[in-house]
Amino acid sequence: MTAPVLPAGDPASIERAAAVLRDGGLVAFPTETVYGLGACAFDARAVARVFEVKARPVFDPLIVHLHDAVELPRVVDAAEDPRVARLAARFWPGPLTLVLPRRPGVPDIVTAGLDTVGVRVPAHPAARALLHAAGPLAAPSANPFGYVSPTTAAHVAERLGGHVDLVLDGGPCTVGVESTIVSLAGDAAVLLRPGGVPLEELEAELGRPVALAERGSRPVAPGQLDRHYATRTPLRVLDGPAADAPPGGQRVGLLAFGPTSARGYAAVEVLAPDGRLATAAAQLFAALRRLDALPLDAIHAEPCPPEGLGLAIRDRLRRAAARG
Ligand code: TXA
Ligand code: MG
Repeated sequence: MTAPVLPAGDPASIERAAAVLRDGGLVAFPTETVYGLGACAFDARAVARVFEVKARPVFDPLIVHLHDAVELPRVVDAAEDPRVARLAARFWPGPLTLVLPRRPGVPDIVTAGLDTVGVRVPAHPAARALLHAAGPLAAPSANPFGYVSPTTAAHVAERLGGHVDLVLDGGPCTVGVESTIVSLAGDAAVLLRPGGVPLEELEAELGRPVALAERGSRPVAPGQLDRHYATRTPLRVLDGPAADAPPGGQRVGLLAFGPTSARGYAAVEVLAPDGRLATAAAQLFAALRRLDALPLDAIHAEPCPPEGLGLAIRDRLRRAAARG
């Protein structure tokens, strides 16, 4: 059976989704970053099903989504940390996740047994309505583990429609890459994942540089596995703007950053016709999926500038290209 897909803007859909969640069910819902696969954060059995449905390793913790920062004391122990109030006031609701010391009541399965928990307040109106009715929700991106994240309800339904109880359709995600994850568990803020809030803006708000997590520094960022966001088709990140397609019989797809005059590709996706990083981020996952649906031997991706949202795009492409 495939899950019903309901319009997220209809209050009746939100009510039905909230009832499903309260009964221990799973609801896929839109956020401004990507679609999430939600379960009640305090219902360990429902959360366990999230891991099952995604085929996600249980050492990879989930983010807890809140309707409002005033709910923080329900899940974290951070009342004394002035950085939290500051970042919450500036970036919430929005694409920022804070990793903070957890409260004992948060189920172990949510945090993968860590003494910290990731929390965020999403901005999408449907997510907010759902969280108001049935939050807090533990929610990873609504894709099978390791595959490209979903930015439309159709992406969710295609891969997980048979395994979830309800899908809320709130249209395409406007940010298009996942939230920026910052750990405030220690004295120095550490960037665990670049995402929808640019690093420069975080540093400006905190008034100091944010350290970058060392690659492969598990268990600090247990989910930051190298091979992730992977397409079925092998993907390679080019060193610079694309030249003409390589000679030979291969069918190569091009993921161009901006308008391109490169020739000979079997298919071309232009992420940002306007050259803006925000446009490229919003298009990234849908474009990758379209290329991946074609009979191609390889996908070549142009790099984008390493600034602003470009950091998140480069991170996702690097992981998509990682082998093994
Ligand atoms: O934008 C987003 O963050 C989306 C939407 C649905 O909110 N969610 C999302 O969740 O991207 P997910 O599960 O696909 O990625 C969450 C990442 C994982 O890599 C996980 O390891 C990391 O957050 N994470 C969660 N809790 C953590 C913790 N306590 N310490 C370190 N990393 C944590
Ligand atoms: Mg994910």
